[in-house]
Amino acid sequence: MALATRLQVPPELITVAARRVMARCEELARVTSTPGSITRVYLSPEHARVNRLAAEWMRELGMTTRQDAAGNQVSRLAPVGAPDAPALLLGSHLDTVPDAGRFDGIIGVLMALEVVRLVRRRDEDGVASSPFPFALEVVAFSDEEGTRFGKALLGSSAVAGQWEASWWDLTDEDGVTLREAFREFGLDPGRVGEAARRPDELVAYLEAHIEQGPELHRSGQALAAVSSIASARRFQLIVEGEARHAGGTPYDMRRDALLGASEAALAVERICRGEHHIVGTVGQLEAFPGAVNVVPGEAHFSLDLRGEFDDTRDHTWDEIARELDAIMGRRGLSWQAREVHSAPAVFCAPLLQDVVRAGIGGEAPTLFSRAGHDAMSIGAITDVGMLFLRNPDGISHHPDEAVSGDDVAVGIQALAEAVLHLAAEPR
Ligand code: GLV
Ligand code: MN
Ligand code: MN
Repeated sequence: MALATRLQVPPELITVAARRVMARCEELARVTSTPGSITRVYLSPEHARVNRLAAEWMRELGMTTRQDAAGNQVSRLAPVGAPDAPALLLGSHLDTVPDAGRFDGIIGVLMALEVVRLVRRRDEDGVASSPFPFALEVVAFSDEEGTRFGKALLGSSAVAGQWEASWWDLTDEDGVTLREAFREFGLDPGRVGEAARRPDELVAYLEAHIEQGPELHRSGQALAAVSSIASARRFQLIVEGEARHAGGTPYDMRRDALLGASEAALAVERICRGEHHIVGTVGQLEAFPGAVNVVPGEAHFSLDLRGEFDDTRDHTWDEIARELDAIMGRRGLSWQAREVHSAPAVFCAPLLQDVVRAGIGGEAPTLFSRAGHDAMSIGAITDVGMLFLRNPDGISHHPDEAVSGDDVAVGIQALAEAVLHLAAEPR
């Protein structure tokens, strides 16, 4: 018998599901280390609290749940009689940037749970199972943003089996190493490899996420399929000059590190603006010793560089590096860069783009994602697909980040139908 590709549930159930998602976004927003705003970083007490909440919601659906060896909260619903069936992973992340919005990542985890609620089978005793030949798993990834340790996608990298030993010595702003933070959280650094999944355990990964840009808002559409996710590199840069008296030092004697870093930030903008689909951002800039009457002797800044393709991103970095040599040379400064994150562009599998478009229905648009997502790491072990939701005004990584309940409702329906379409594919 052919599997249905349309969701056969009363529309009210989808409305209720969307309301629950919106209410849970508010509930998770209250779990923050900065009262009055939202900040929730990897391996923090807030991370433990949202994992506990997610686990409760997973169990409520009849899923089994566990926190994996990298702090990801994972849940599973297997088909009857096939406890070890490979799994379709659905999910996104629960960590945030500082002073974040309520939806980035979070909406994808909560929508995935509603999809499970809508498609699961229940026997006469109410015991839930997957109605498909594969299991359904929902994963709440623990670190996508990289807010605490600078390196993004730590949670999903562990699941992809791509953890690197050099990351253990990354430190947070208090000097706590990733290794120490693991132990404080109750995880064993020596066992992080146990979070890794094998390709043969997986069918695919599907992630719903807000767009974090203005395209859907501008085109007046609620949903899109994603074609690929931008490649990214992140650097921490140090400029060294000389700290001297702000009054006594004439301009021809100054080696002002902050001015060198500022000129570098402007050069990043100028160079990236000239390239198609490349964006560069200097999001952190700090002067040392940081006194009102001292010419800055040292400046630290970050660079986040993204592009549709790895080679154009890399050429752009080479051009920025040449320009930094020129700027610092003119100003008598030296500079160095440490690369803290690198992720290649990831292409969504054509079949998964098709099922997402089929789930959306009509003339579903397809967008390229400039933002990074857990799907980037998971792409190393299985096919990935993504569904974007309209993000009014395109504002994200900001407390005004928004999504409408109506869009969440059609998003849940589209994601559920994408899963049905995937299940109906011959394999
Ligand atoms: C995550 O939101 C990123 O793209 O930086
Ligand atoms: Mn995100
Ligand atoms: Mn984000």
